[in-house]
Amino acid sequence: MSVAGPLHFVVLLGSLRRGSYNAAVARALPALAPAGVTIEPLGSIGDFPIYSGDVEAEGIPAPVAAMGEAIAKADGVIVVTPEYNYSIPGGLKNAIDWLSRLKPNPFLDKPVALESASVGMLGGARAQYHLRQTFVMLEACVFNKPEVFVAQANQKIDAATGALTDPPARDIIAKQLAGFGAFARAHKHAAVTS
Ligand code: FNR
Repeated sequence: MSVAGPLHFVVLLGSLRRGSYNAAVARALPALAPAGVTIEPLGSIGDFPIYSGDVEAEGIPAPVAAMGEAIAKADGVIVVTPEYNYSIPGGLKNAIDWLSRLKPNPFLDKPVALESASVGMLGGARAQYHLRQTFVMLEACVFNKPEVFVAQANQKIDAATGALTDPPARDIIAKQLAGFGAFARAHKHAAVTS
């Protein structure tokens, strides 16, 4: 099933590190996207305060509201993140927790794709599986396969340019984006016709 028209995806980055391998993966996405798909970064999760009900009671912080609006307008979200201690990095979980407080929840029924890069052998798989669990609560529509795990990322990203140069990694990302594009299109079509 397909519907005509462009798709717009936004990228939620789980690392704040200068020289982040995940940021390198995120930068590679626009060039690997299929025709008709644009991909743009969201704001930084580093601009969010640590979640507290007391801070929320004073009002939703502006960076949270802005990111929620960008997600709500997008046809899909691509989360690109490291794995910390076999799970979701605290900063990313904090951002998702904040975003989940918006009304309506911007992830509700939203197509979401997951990618991770790590210096380890599993490429951040465990963080992705914890994200899948969280997105069940948020009623997002998480894309299944192909999965993107950029293992031993330090060997796949050019240290001088910060470019993701590894052909198999670029290939699997392009395949995922093609599949995610079709998934998001079918989702949009179903929403329009229901
Ligand atoms: C890590 N790292 C890591 N890697 C992994 O594959 N599994 C893990 O559980 C962890 N745990 C972990 C905890 C903490 C606190 C840090 C700082 C790091 C290593 C991680 O893959 C590596 O630092 C990546 O380079 C982080 O991604 P960015 O910042 O380069 O995008």
